[in-house]
Amino acid sequence: MEKKTFYITTPIYYPSDKLHIGHTYCTVATDAIARYKRLCGYDVMFLTGTDEHGQKIEEKAKAAGLSPKEFVDRIVTGENGILDLWKLMNISNDRFIRTTDDYHVQAVQRIFKKMYDKGDIYKGAYKGKYCTPCESFWTESQLVDGKCPDCGREVHDAQEEAYFFRLSKYAKPVQELLESGTFLEPASRVNEMINNFIKPGLEDLCVSRTSFSWGIPVDFDPGHVVYVWVDALFNYCTALGLLNDKYDDFEHYWPADVHVVGKEIVRFHSIIWPAMLMSMELPLPKKVYGHGWLVIDGGKMSKSKGNVVNPYVLAERFGVDALRFFLLRTFPFGTDGNFSNELLISTINTDLANDLGNLVSRTTAMVEKYFGGKLPVERQSEDVDGELVEMIKSARAKYEKQMDALQLHLALEDIFKLIQRANKYIDETAPWVLAKDESKKTRLATVMYNLLEALRVSLILLTPFMPESCQKAFSQIGADESCRSWEKAAEYGALPADVSVTKGETLFPRLDMAKELEALEKLEHQDRQEPKTPPVLPDVSIDDFAKCDMRVCKVISCEAVKKSDKLLKFMLDDGSGTPRQILSGIHKFYEPEQLVGKTLVAILNLPSRKMMGQDSNGMLLSAVREVDGKEELHLLILDDSVPAGSQLC
Ligand code: MSP
Repeated sequence: MEKKTFYITTPIYYPSDKLHIGHTYCTVATDAIARYKRLCGYDVMFLTGTDEHGQKIEEKAKAAGLSPKEFVDRIVTGENGILDLWKLMNISNDRFIRTTDDYHVQAVQRIFKKMYDKGDIYKGAYKGKYCTPCESFWTESQLVDGKCPDCGREVHDAQEEAYFFRLSKYAKPVQELLESGTFLEPASRVNEMINNFIKPGLEDLCVSRTSFSWGIPVDFDPGHVVYVWVDALFNYCTALGLLNDKYDDFEHYWPADVHVVGKEIVRFHSIIWPAMLMSMELPLPKKVYGHGWLVIDGGKMSKSKGNVVNPYVLAERFGVDALRFFLLRTFPFGTDGNFSNELLISTINTDLANDLGNLVSRTTAMVEKYFGGKLPVERQSEDVDGELVEMIKSARAKYEKQMDALQLHLALEDIFKLIQRANKYIDETAPWVLAKDESKKTRLATVMYNLLEALRVSLILLTPFMPESCQKAFSQIGADESCRSWEKAAEYGALPADVSVTKGETLFPRLDMAKELEALEKLEHQDRQEPKTPPVLPDVSIDDFAKCDMRVCKVISCEAVKKSDKLLKFMLDDGSGTPRQILSGIHKFYEPEQLVGKTLVAILNLPSRKMMGQDSNGMLLSAVREVDGKEELHLLILDDSVPAGSQLC
């Protein structure tokens, strides 16, 4: 019989910065679900990837002096990049898509054209507030005091040609979809979508841009690039082979069983995504699950607040499995969770070191001590065994119910009830007392066997959460492959009667809270301190370098530009006899009077540029770097003895 398929996805991540613990949470949760489904015998396709287009990436790349592709390559495939992080976290994705992959680009162009031919995408005009010097459209709400949020200058009403998707046409079927069954979960998110987005009226969606170029070109209208969310959402289909020759699994796996997404992107997945699929006449995903966020002190993690938690630091210190487990055991999947190092350490101590780790080490140590590592086959049951044996037999069914409802923390809670019950059973049966009496050996062996069975079943069910540690623990309790399967998780008695155990390394050592907190603080501080030194750029030829005319200039005068927070206007002696005017956005770092008379370096042969209506003929050179998330800038200031006009070579 053919296996049932299960197609599960994470969002595809923006490679604009290194990923943090919040991103890791989302991927680890999806991985645990995928592993669970494989364990149950499904033919699973687990997809993740990166969402590499858009203005933000284009701008960041420019700031780093790289092409957008070079920039994203560093974050995706570079050292400690996204691929490295998923490898470290033991993520078992079957496929990884990058939206810059050729097959995806071509497929999205075909998809866009199909919706256009159908009349669901049409050409219109995008109206907004335009800042001419910044070449940017803004909405009313983005303006700061009615001015451009980037440069503070006046904006004016403007419109530009753009393509629109007829989202309004699909308002009714999308509302019906949201209200029917279990398409969007948790259920609380349904009302949010209907009240905030559908009821106020769904407007058609602008799906092309002309103000930047880092996107998938609309192939029948040069100058337009496809809106990044249209490009990104279709990854779920193109990665299976929709409208491309790279893969051929679309029929096999589509529709997705579940798209796991963070709460802030539920709108895109539960409104825009089904509407576009309806337009494409494709089956709809069965479920979108909007999980909560990991927050710090109740607020968002952000680079500017300097509170971003680096998963590498935690995984290296505590182990990948402990980190995976903590994330999924502690925070209910559908709601926000407050992350803290204390919580991480105490969860490891309570659940992993005390409850699970202790049960493994005590049980294996006792089997070694009392039976030389191998149990005799005779058994003698007593009433006190009943409750534990019942829990062993019913654990899988309870777990399955919670896992299928994506209540990962509740599934783990149930497993830990069994583990705690087994620890209590040790106290109730007092094996050390039984061991003293030769006539109680059979009873003692029965107690040991029950403990090993409780462990075996718990470990099968824990495997999707902590794959490596469970493998090690299986070996310690003598459970070979034949008794680690899903089927055997519902049985009591799968371990051989004469099972042999091997007490191995401590799986989860107990942590000293104060010591660990101190160590973490240091490591995190170091991590944030690391100067963000950009990599060396690709080679340029000496001839190209020689084309840059860099010269020593003396500052004749310097003043702040009116109505600008950033700009300083310099008149410079560049040695030519004619003063040169250069504008520079460095007011944040220097007061004008500090710079008069100084000897600086400028590149002179850049095209002249208008800034706040004034000409700037060149650029002053400075040294920049980021420290603790803050930009530092130092103008190149030379010794006054260097004459104006000297050339740099
Ligand atoms: N590129 C889009 C997704 C496109 S899917 C077609 C995107 N990328 S993202 O990198 O910004 O975020 C990826 C996922 O990480 C989102 O689901 C987001 O909710 C999740 N998280 C980012 N920060 C998070 C936390 N602090 N906590 C939990 N999840 C968080 O959105």
